[in-house]
Amino acid sequence: MCGIVGYIGKRNAQEVLIKGLRRLEYRGYDSAGVAILSDKVGKRPSRLQIEKRAGKLGILENILTQKPLAGNLGISHVRWATHGIPNTKNAHPHWCCANRIALVHNGIIENYEELKESLIKEGHKFRSQTDTEVLVHLVEKFYQANLEEAIRRALKLVRGAYAISVICKDEPDKLVGARCGSPLIAGTGEEEGFLASDIPALLDYTNEVTLLDEGEIAVLTPRGLEVQNLKKDILNKEKIKISWDAAQAEKEGFPHFMLKEIHEQPRAITNTLMGRISEDKEKVLLPELKSLEKFFASMEKIVIISCGTAWHAGLVGKYLIEEFARIPVEVDIASEFRYRNPILNDKTLVVAITQSGETADTLAGLHAAKNSGAKILSICNVLGSSIPRESDAVIYTHAGPEIAVASTKAYTCQLAVLYLFAFYLASLKNPSYFTKPHSLKDYLTNLENIPAKIEEFLNNKDNKKVIRQCTRRYHRSFGFLYLGRSLNFPTALEGALKIKEISYIHAEGYGAGEMKHGPIALINPHLPVVCIAPGDSVYEKMLSNIEEIKARKGIVISVATEGDKFISHHSNHVIYLPRINPVFSPFLTVVPLQLLAYYIAAKRGCDIDRPKNLAKSVTVE
Ligand code: M6R
Repeated sequence: MCGIVGYIGKRNAQEVLIKGLRRLEYRGYDSAGVAILSDKVGKRPSRLQIEKRAGKLGILENILTQKPLAGNLGISHVRWATHGIPNTKNAHPHWCCANRIALVHNGIIENYEELKESLIKEGHKFRSQTDTEVLVHLVEKFYQANLEEAIRRALKLVRGAYAISVICKDEPDKLVGARCGSPLIAGTGEEEGFLASDIPALLDYTNEVTLLDEGEIAVLTPRGLEVQNLKKDILNKEKIKISWDAAQAEKEGFPHFMLKEIHEQPRAITNTLMGRISEDKEKVLLPELKSLEKFFASMEKIVIISCGTAWHAGLVGKYLIEEFARIPVEVDIASEFRYRNPILNDKTLVVAITQSGETADTLAGLHAAKNSGAKILSICNVLGSSIPRESDAVIYTHAGPEIAVASTKAYTCQLAVLYLFAFYLASLKNPSYFTKPHSLKDYLTNLENIPAKIEEFLNNKDNKKVIRQCTRRYHRSFGFLYLGRSLNFPTALEGALKIKEISYIHAEGYGAGEMKHGPIALINPHLPVVCIAPGDSVYEKMLSNIEEIKARKGIVISVATEGDKFISHHSNHVIYLPRINPVFSPFLTVVPLQLLAYYIAAKRGCDIDRPKNLAKSVTVE
């Protein structure tokens, strides 16, 4: 996720762009840049002035305060790196060989490697390691005095997700944007036009915006906005009046980042899977693992280390890797791992899972593992952070910045990577798994369909009603118990952690089979017990646990699969999930638990995005 702002008009472009980027900093903050077309002075022609810097927007801002860039047409960007580490070279804007076209991009270009190769053969010179740079060279290749036409031709060759904003020094009265899969909006004022990834960037200037749809190109001139499609048809687009203030708009109208991030999960998972499943769905594509391919042949064991939510993802990973690839997996909380004496050697792969890439215990665990000769693979959301830098290989989740302290979209994206990794290892180490009735193609097709299923769940009003009803009834409870089995035992732990950290209600997550070994003593008519019971191989066992709770007059909130009428006779409340292959259920079962925690915390008046005593990134022991 990155932020884009573009401006054309009479104002000082630098001021508009920087002010807009400030409002989009939540979308990315590892580097920032602007490109502004200088005014023509006398005989001196206008030229593209570009300033960009690694680090937070403030660094760029300081430079621009000292050496301002004058001009009334410009584009700008705050970056959240996906391809190419966050340094100044990889920061946007990128510009073409002839220094006449500049471009900023939000999204991922899936086929950038093949495009780059052919552009290099044609003589284009690349300056960065980004996927984005192919776009500006493609536009340059097709440019013949009409920017939108060159963009249209370039986009026809591109696979992936993008929102772009482009300027060209030969057309100083034109700002062009296009979108497919990443958001872009246009706004107009008196003889001026704006482009932005999100509404808050424009609210200081206009509250009337046009939302671009997939495959649309916006051409802004001082005369107004024209929207076209890839076939060159001119479209009649409706303007929308925005009633939010800027702070609300930053959260896209959601009251908290956590709720926004819960709703971003379908897009975040799609981005994480993008380019990692072959078009025929027969293969997992993880070129990041190339350097480990030889090692995998002799690998004997995997140890996963992580903390908090990432540890829960690791627990799901164990089930998956052992089931599909038949490789033994241990999962350790990093703070335990680093202080025990684990048995590791050069045939061990240690997988460090971390959203931030900076968690002190996970980093220390990684150091200990390295000293023992193990290979290190990290799964991380922040490009260029410490843990990936010290790993032998990295698979990035592309969740975009997660602002709320309580992790939601990073978790489901970690799951997405772990499913891919388990299928990848199974293809290498246990290919016979994918003989009938289990085809890899079926699994990968199901995996790609997960974002749509989460979307379906999030749009279901009946479920929201049940969650709201549970919130009203139980927000004053002293405790919650979460029970799950097999792949959803980690979901129970994650549900309990979510409610604990944001609503400050004590909660326990348990493997349901453990209930009779202790926690059953807690069951009483005041204790809500969340029972995760999708229609999987342990469904009947979960039903027995539910009966045991009911027999002791406990309150049962079941998370089940749609159509399961039976469970409703045995539960006080049921939240229904869309039907999917149960092996993928952890993606769905966790979402109602995130929402339940969220609404209970909101009802209790808690500071949801910044819960007390917690930090987003735990960089100290
Ligand atoms: O950045 P990391 O994934 O390494 O962080 C690990 C934990 O600190 C983190 O998951 C924490 O438990 C979250 N607050 C959970 O919502």
